[in-house]
Amino acid sequence: MDNHPLSACRRCFTTGTVQGGSSSLPMTIRPTSAAALLVLTLAACGPVKRGAADQFTRTGELIALSGGDAGAPNACVACHGLDGRGNGAGAPRLAGLNRGYMTAQLEAYASGRRRHPEMEAIARKLTLAQYDAVSNYFAALRFQPDISSSVAGSPPVLYQRGDPARGIAGCASCHGDHGEGVGPANPPLGGQAAAYLAEQLDQWRRGARRNDPENVMLEIARALTLGESAALAAYASSLPGGLPRPGSPAASPEAHRDDPRSDVSMPLRRAVE
Ligand code: HEC
Ligand code: HEC
Repeated sequence: MDNHPLSACRRCFTTGTVQGGSSSLPMTIRPTSAAALLVLTLAACGPVKRGAADQFTRTGELIALSGGDAGAPNACVACHGLDGRGNGAGAPRLAGLNRGYMTAQLEAYASGRRRHPEMEAIARKLTLAQYDAVSNYFAALRFQPDISSSVAGSPPVLYQRGDPARGIAGCASCHGDHGEGVGPANPPLGGQAAAYLAEQLDQWRRGARRNDPENVMLEIARALTLGESAALAAYASSLPGGLPRPGSPAASPEAHRDDPRSDVSMPLRRAVE
């Protein structure tokens, strides 16, 4: 990760730690040193999008920035990005993923049902409460689809409809036409790097990832050819991975707000009222 653009952030943590007078962050971060670390990080690494300012979210943000019990070198943002968009290669987007899904993945790394040396080591050092808090933080980070990037070609038949003869269900039925993920357990694929998605399919093929419900992905990955996996990973990666949220400013421009029903700050009303 040394050449990663966010390696500058690693240096922020190092600076914060040196000022604190020890070579690694203490297990329990005192409020003052935690605040100093946050200021240093924010000053050197740019703005962080903040979720609801409750204590739970703040704890999650602190773990994301400091690594929590896993220590400063394992700060999540160093690999997953301050905005949670991932590093464009092996470290995936976490912003906007489902909280329960992320907690389940951290548990799977800790128990060895999902194999990856760095994530296994990190997950084993965090407590269940820390999984929950940090997952809550990343889940609340808004993922802005990159609308400038275009979808790579027309949807492959396998993505849309699968191949029933080989027992492959269409990816879209669980991951959505826009790669947004349908329901809490089916993660978005859009906005994830093609290399990451291809690597996951490969891990299921090799049995290195074994925590999917009812082996659904394990069986699909083993039915796909290598060429099909690569093509599906490239296509899924190019999908926007999110839908405009109802009530977002774009859906309710300033000019239309004289009607209180189109003001997003008003409580939701039924159309018949
Ligand atoms: C040294 C880099 C690094 C650091 C630090 C790091 N991660 Fe990761 N993370 C990765 C990589 C690489 C993967 C993909 C591993 C794989 O292929 O299974 C990953 C995967 C994940 C996933 C699975 C996402 C998915 O879509 O299935 C979660 C959740 C996660 N990391 C959370 C965290 C949290 C929380 C922290 C901080 C406590 C953290 N990571 C710190 C590199 C890192
Ligand atoms: C019946 C539902 C279902 C179908 C159909 C399905 N998936 Fe999945 N997929 C899942 C679930 C559930 C997970 C998360 C598994 C876990 O918890 O580890 C997943 C995860 C993935 C991931 C890893 C995402 C990440 O962030 O780590 C990839 C890549 C993937 N699926 C690709 C595909 C492709 C390609 C297809 C079509 C050929 C497909 N899936 C069809 C349910 C499905």
